[in-house]
Amino acid sequence: MIGIFDSGIGGLTVARALIKCLPEYDILYFGDTARTPYGTKSPETVIQYAIEDAKILIEKGAQILVVGCNTASSVATEKLRESFDMPIFEVISPAVHEVVSNNRGKRVGIIGTRATVNSNVYQDKIKAARPDIKVFTAPCPLLVPLVEEGWLNRGETRKIVKRYLYPLKLKQIDTLILGCTHYPLLKEIIQAKIGKRVKIIDSSETLSGTVKNFLAGNTHIANRLSKKGTHRIFVSDITNHIQKLASTILKDANKLEHIKL
Ligand code: DGL
Repeated sequence: MIGIFDSGIGGLTVARALIKCLPEYDILYFGDTARTPYGTKSPETVIQYAIEDAKILIEKGAQILVVGCNTASSVATEKLRESFDMPIFEVISPAVHEVVSNNRGKRVGIIGTRATVNSNVYQDKIKAARPDIKVFTAPCPLLVPLVEEGWLNRGETRKIVKRYLYPLKLKQIDTLILGCTHYPLLKEIIQAKIGKRVKIIDSSETLSGTVKNFLAGNTHIANRLSKKGTHRIFVSDITNHIQKLASTILKDANKLEHIKL
């Protein structure tokens, strides 16, 4: 099975993209709703949680692991790869690959949680591959709570998005990476505020393409993964609100299963 984890239910945007790309594969999702958010926490805490999340999925039968959370991908990937001997995918490298392999983007903006932006992982990876690309970042800490409140199309949300994107607009970016699980849900507002000419890279979509290519090129691994098209969604805490939001992001999430930490 393909295991995917996130700090909460925002990562269902990544699961949704993965399911669209690989509909036949069985998917296990774990959202750490009891300890979310990760984006405001220290790297040490996020690493500890990420290792615990991965263990939960492996115990449930995951044979490959997807770190759906940008914050955990930024700070915990190295430790996860040291701790678990299995294919581990994160959401950062595929988005970076899309940027550096394309000659279009010369001025790239990155938005994410504070932890993701402060980790410098996106910035360092882009610079290492293409020193000619100028990278600009903007942490957008209020967007996660706004999405979790379901304020996807409110005037207040539009204003805050505009305010966060303004410095990137001044830098005349041509490409913008959505470096957070929640931002695909605000994609239309983000596109409207940053401008039509800016290409938006959704890290959930680039990740899915990478996993699909990997499985196509590694049939011995792909053949071992079960393919009944089932999707089980586990969370460490359930409330009515979490359940409602989860089903809005992904239809299959209408029956969340609780795992006690
Ligand atoms: N999943 C987180 C991310 O993609 C956003 C929510 C949080 O801060 O935990 O960075």
